[in-house]
Amino acid sequence: MRTPVLAGNWKMYKSAHEASAFLNELVPLVRDSRHREVVVCPPFVALPAAVSAARGSGIDVGAQDVFWLKEGAYTGEISAPMLLAIGCQWVIIGHSERREYFGETDETVFKKTVAAIESGLKPIVCVGERLEEREAGQTEDVLAAQFEGGLARLAPDQMARIVIAYEPVWAIGTGRTATPEMASAAHKFIRTQVHKSFGAEIADTCRILYGGSVKPDNIAALMAQDDIDGALVGGASLDAKSFASIVHYA
Ligand code: 13P
Repeated sequence: MRTPVLAGNWKMYKSAHEASAFLNELVPLVRDSRHREVVVCPPFVALPAAVSAARGSGIDVGAQDVFWLKEGAYTGEISAPMLLAIGCQWVIIGHSERREYFGETDETVFKKTVAAIESGLKPIVCVGERLEEREAGQTEDVLAAQFEGGLARLAPDQMARIVIAYEPVWAIGTGRTATPEMASAAHKFIRTQVHKSFGAEIADTCRILYGGSVKPDNIAALMAQDDIDGALVGGASLDAKSFASIVHYA
């Protein structure tokens, strides 16, 4: 039985003050949500405020990126131990926006994932194809290459601590969600990759989240699919009521 994860990726939205206000509204709305993990991922500067406002609520806080070294002369970077020290528990790694605009590659995704796990952060590692790749029938090739280039190189005990997010790039911020059947097929394919590299037990317990235009009105149909274990939500996670109704999908 895989515990669902409902995670909000706020991207570059909300100040520290707005993060506190959001959590003050969200905490009572999700207090009675059982058997699911709820995570919010604000921008770096709002993390301490979010951790403080979420304390004792059962809501976890995650970052949206991390650097792979612990410290050093790396202007502008933030390390996993720094995130852990402020009470951050999760980190999103390899989001398609980071791959597209900030030069993230399967290699940097791999290094960041290892660093996060070794420090005790829980990584949500993103994979997903672009529109032209889907239209060219290359979805599985792209997912396999992203898996091979990053996750397949982890040790089994490292892989056991990863959450994967399948985010088809064409569905992000477009209002064009993958149908539950399309998402399910991709999730099944990813789980097969996990099985091939790490065996049945890790494949059965690995949580694979769907991301891309998840809204209160489509979450239930997505979550009804066997291989969809949660969601990584962008736009609809910025409003506490909307995110709470996603958390209460069933
Ligand atoms: P939207 O939910 O806004 O499409 O964003 C999805 C996403 O990128 C989550 O990481």
